[in-house]
Amino acid sequence: MKSSSIRSAAVIGSGVMGAGIAAHLANAGMRVVLLDVAPTQLTAEEEKKGLTLADAAVRNRLAAAAVAKMPKAQPAQLYDPAWVKRITPGNLSDHLSLIGDADWIVEAVVERLDVKREVLAAIESARRPGTLISTNTSGLSVSAMAEGRSLEFRRHFAATHFFNPPRYMKLVEVVPTEETDPETVALLTELCEKRLGKGVVVAKDTPNFIANRIGTYGMLVTLSDTLEHGLTVEEADALTGPAMGRPKTATFRMLDLVGLDTLIHVVDNVRERSADDEEKAIFARPEILSALVSQGRLGEKSGAGFYRKQRGAGGRSR
Ligand code: NAI
Repeated sequence: MKSSSIRSAAVIGSGVMGAGIAAHLANAGMRVVLLDVAPTQLTAEEEKKGLTLADAAVRNRLAAAAVAKMPKAQPAQLYDPAWVKRITPGNLSDHLSLIGDADWIVEAVVERLDVKREVLAAIESARRPGTLISTNTSGLSVSAMAEGRSLEFRRHFAATHFFNPPRYMKLVEVVPTEETDPETVALLTELCEKRLGKGVVVAKDTPNFIANRIGTYGMLVTLSDTLEHGLTVEEADALTGPAMGRPKTATFRMLDLVGLDTLIHVVDNVRERSADDEEKAIFARPEILSALVSQGRLGEKSGAGFYRKQRGAGGRSR
């Protein structure tokens, strides 16, 4: 099969990454279904009106919210303004059958093995045999995720680990398991390179693969050094941003973009899967991350993390 024959995709999980990946696939000309969990919360106004989650007005609001989370198509000359029309948002419980039309299904739900396994089981129940399935996990075990699925599913399954934001970051790690067909790896690589303009590195199924293993370590060292030396987040970002040739990816800006809840999953994953005490100590979860997340400060997606969005570069966390 050639990558040009992949015309439609389903992205499961419409958060920071899922929304961005859906936008990127749509921009590459694919029809995309973007599904998330059925909403569990009504607004106060909807409750007052006696509406339920089954009402069309509520569903439309939630669908619009999913589209609004998607990145704006910029710069305009590089993006087809019609791309957003190719995306159909929905929820897994009502619209699972739409996965049956997809040639490629990308799982991008929260970084938890139990949740990803459940979602992959749902995908298996609705997909057409022969279609590609990939996970955007930051570094959970890809083979553990596929346990319980059919051999046919497992042969078509690998990780395609996009980086954030998906439309700007060039790297995609393609991570096969021992059961992934070589043709699946070749097709996912061709798709990412030729259709999506990415540079692919094929990585082994080890905790956090390659880039995140290095990146997470660097982030933890910067975080502990910042706290130890009494620097502000702005000072640390001035040092680890433009001064190091990274104008947009200074440490704390980057952490807020990634999402502090996601980061906790990523750090915990390496630590819990390591048999080495020294490595476990290196990947200890910084208390400040737990404290910020318990206050609802998840980063850009919740309006505040290390920085507070509304106050621009202000907002020290300590
Ligand atoms: P997020 O927290 O922004 O979004 C996760 C989405 O999954 C939410 O919209 C949530 O409602 C949905 N979800 C949770 N349970 C679900 C279920 N059972 N069925 C359907 N949807 C469900 O997380 P984010 O950052 O988008 O991460 C998604 C995946 O991408 C994770 O595996 C993460 O490790 C990975 N990733 C994240 C990066 C980042 O910078 N944030 C970078 C690269 C990979």
